[in-house]
Amino acid sequence: HPVVFSPEVDSTNRLASELASQGAPHGTLVTAQEQTSGRGRRGRVWFSHPGGAWFSLILRRPFALSRAFELTLLASVALQRVISQLTKLDVQIKWPNDLFVNDRKVGGILAEIRSDGEQVHQAVVGIGINCNIPIEAFPAEVSQVATSLLAESGQRIDRTQLVGRFLALYGEMLDFLFRGEPAFERVHEEWCAHSHTLGRQVRVQTNRDVIEGRAVQLDKDGTLMIRTQNGEDIAVHSGEVLF
Ligand code: BTN
Repeated sequence: HPVVFSPEVDSTNRLASELASQGAPHGTLVTAQEQTSGRGRRGRVWFSHPGGAWFSLILRRPFALSRAFELTLLASVALQRVISQLTKLDVQIKWPNDLFVNDRKVGGILAEIRSDGEQVHQAVVGIGINCNIPIEAFPAEVSQVATSLLAESGQRIDRTQLVGRFLALYGEMLDFLFRGEPAFERVHEEWCAHSHTLGRQVRVQTNRDVIEGRAVQLDKDGTLMIRTQNGEDIAVHSGEVLF
């Protein structure tokens, strides 16, 4: 698969979308040493200092729009597995797909899809992992909630190995999705076993409101169940767990 590397780019997700619209093939990897306006979820800026793994994968296989959520859930499981193998750190997944170590964020995933009716025909899955970033390099507001693998493990991580292993594993997982077979269901238990969210009292920001309660369960389709104080269970399909 082709790899596009830039020393500096605004956002690998932005560049990947542009290349995809110009015909870049399925499986193209776009990566950069540094991003000047890395994109985070919910319109936020993603701090992208050199030393991190900043990459975006172009996918051009059709699959059901109703399953788009699995793109990021699968990526979080694959990253959890690969990073814990390479660092021995206890890596946890904060619903739906943030990677946490010692209660701080070390990585995030941003998928941007193009769909036609009920089919996704193009996706860019962008991944940012704070690998070899010294803690001093983080801006103050970021260092309160984020950390790096280097800071937590004291060791530099080989980013080529991380990305290579991730791509192999994620590729296998995605093949189930592209064949229309259960995909997240197969790793659902693994997601739950490393969850930072289940069992906790949480506040979840959805597109409409904030739901407060205990995260009691993650369904096989990625839906989070929140049990509110009055014992009511609310299913949350997308949103974000607030600190
Ligand atoms: C999040 O907010 O948790 C998602 C962050 C995703 C950041 C990555 S870095 C590589 C890719 N390019 C971007 O502009 N964003 C993603």
